[in-house]
Amino acid sequence: MKRTHHCSELRLEHIGQTVTLTGWVHSRRDLGGVIFIDIRDREGRTQTVYDPSDLAPELFNRAAALRSECVVAVTGKVRRRPEGTNNPKIATGEVEVMTIDLELLNQAEVLPFPVDDPEAAAKVNEELRLRYRYLDLRRPEMSRNLRLRSKAAMATRRFMEEQGFLEVETPTLFKSTPEGAREFVVPSRTNPGSFYALPQSPQQFKQILMVAGVERYFQLARCYRDEDLRADRQPEFTQIDIEMSFIEREDIYRLIEGLLARLWKETLGVEIPTPFRRLSFVEAIDRYGIDKPDTRLGMELADFTEDFRGSQFKVFSGAIEAGGVVKAFNASGLAGVTQGQMETMTELAKSGGAKGLAYIKVENGEWKSPIVKFFTDAQRQALEQRLAVKEGDLILFAAGPWLGAAEILGRIRLYAAEVLRAAGRLQVPANRFDFLWVVDFPLLSFDKEQNRWYSSHHPFTAPVTEDIPLLKDSPRQVRGQHYDVVVNGVELGGGSIRIHQPEVQRTVFEEVLQLTPETVQTRFGYMLEAFKYGCPPHGGIALGFDRLVAILCGTPSIRDVIAFPKTAKGTCLMTDSPGQLEARQLRELYLELKAAKPDAR
Ligand code: AMO
Ligand code: AMP
Repeated sequence: MKRTHHCSELRLEHIGQTVTLTGWVHSRRDLGGVIFIDIRDREGRTQTVYDPSDLAPELFNRAAALRSECVVAVTGKVRRRPEGTNNPKIATGEVEVMTIDLELLNQAEVLPFPVDDPEAAAKVNEELRLRYRYLDLRRPEMSRNLRLRSKAAMATRRFMEEQGFLEVETPTLFKSTPEGAREFVVPSRTNPGSFYALPQSPQQFKQILMVAGVERYFQLARCYRDEDLRADRQPEFTQIDIEMSFIEREDIYRLIEGLLARLWKETLGVEIPTPFRRLSFVEAIDRYGIDKPDTRLGMELADFTEDFRGSQFKVFSGAIEAGGVVKAFNASGLAGVTQGQMETMTELAKSGGAKGLAYIKVENGEWKSPIVKFFTDAQRQALEQRLAVKEGDLILFAAGPWLGAAEILGRIRLYAAEVLRAAGRLQVPANRFDFLWVVDFPLLSFDKEQNRWYSSHHPFTAPVTEDIPLLKDSPRQVRGQHYDVVVNGVELGGGSIRIHQPEVQRTVFEEVLQLTPETVQTRFGYMLEAFKYGCPPHGGIALGFDRLVAILCGTPSIRDVIAFPKTAKGTCLMTDSPGQLEARQLRELYLELKAAKPDAR
């Protein structure tokens, strides 16, 4: 029996036709002797009906014996559902198929968890879902995610081709260049004692492609990073990786705004306004305490350094005398905060380096706080005005170094938003997407432990041209031509205009990052050499494709949009990877294990 229609297709206009559907037994109900079975395929569901009064007993018994998730082919006649039995939840809900013939294509054992009930599935633990990922992916919600991902990938390719980009594949057996995240390495059998490393991104190859004259490159590139995993991080993930020659930052902004607008339109039917807002790094930290602000949440930070200079309250005046700041924000409506929530926020402050968390609760027209007694009228007024203080509010303070204090409040702000949201006091519409660019990052950050500068983004990012002379003597002041694109508090992507002059690149490696000439030669020598043979000015960006699809799908975890993701420990529960090697394989690779095998421990 060959399929004539998908399970999503039948409508009133098909009434009277004889059709054949193939798929899985999704759900069944037995009502007064008549059996109703929803058949599901990739596209949707259709109800089929088995009435003992017009089916041969043998056929009816076959239907009666069907278990969930058996694979079947059903032939029958389409009819209108009886009055009052329409199912508005599914596209085929006005019709049903009166079965004439039924073929069992394959049996299914009893499943470890149901796939037909979203609420039940939400309660299934994720380990079980990952172990039986092929069943998990049958769930309509997961199948929708995979389809949306595919659609987004296709739309990306179409858009990039229209814009004149070539898709070029770059190697995933690369070499170690330990500047960024920790790498995964692969021993080489043919080169004893040598190792490939899996690329953290195609960064170096894509820049070399610019030297090669490709001009406009893109790739849906697989990247590997041996990092601690979280909901938005996987050890292997996909980037929409882009590089262009003869361009400036503005060209990248326009391209990415166009791409994202197209993707949102084609997958969600949502128009996103362009151009996106821009915030400098300093402004993002000042107003939101984070370099990837979720601007939907309101509750901006304000600065009260000048107001509290010389204050009676020594925590504030002391921090200011030490060159720091006093910042605060209004967690509006959170005066009823619980003891436990207050402790969580205090812990956030302490983990950011503060001794505590000063606060004011506004209750019954009063400012309740151990510190208001130190405030002058002018200070009260400043707070009242700039934080729009009203009944029921909670004001939270951080005093300390600028970045540290702001970041403390940034984290507390996100926590406060979570609390307010859970209590239904902060509504954020599901289809609101606040895109923005964060620009003017510092080129370098200082690592106190190692007492050296490191690249805020990566060492190929160009300094803002007028800041180049400051590189050697005032590295702190050098801005990088780096940009991040952020949506709803998620860092979706980042990139930069690159250094294309070999001598500037060498200065950054050797004099700023303090790499020895030998290290530079072994790690990046080929790049510096390539740059000598006519390297065009160039720049690019990479968007985290998994994060992008997760946002389109409205799920907080990128695991939900990756067919076969890894657990937080980096394992695949379905295939049981990583696995062990046999002694013979180890010998061939010239490897000897020092650590005991996990099962021998
Ligand atoms: P960057 O390291 O900022 O830049 O990465 C770009 C984007 O990739 C996504 N991303 C991840 N997604 C899932 N799991 C991970 N472990 C993970 N790590 C990063 C993020 C991030 O914004 N070569 C440069 C780009 C360039 O300069 O052109 C790069 O890789 O969404
Ligand atoms: P103290 O006088 O040290 O007891 O602190 C008074 C209040 O200020 C307490 O509520 C502390 O939690 C809070 N506090 C201490 N350090 C900071 C800081 N760096 N920023 C904001 N509040 C602080």
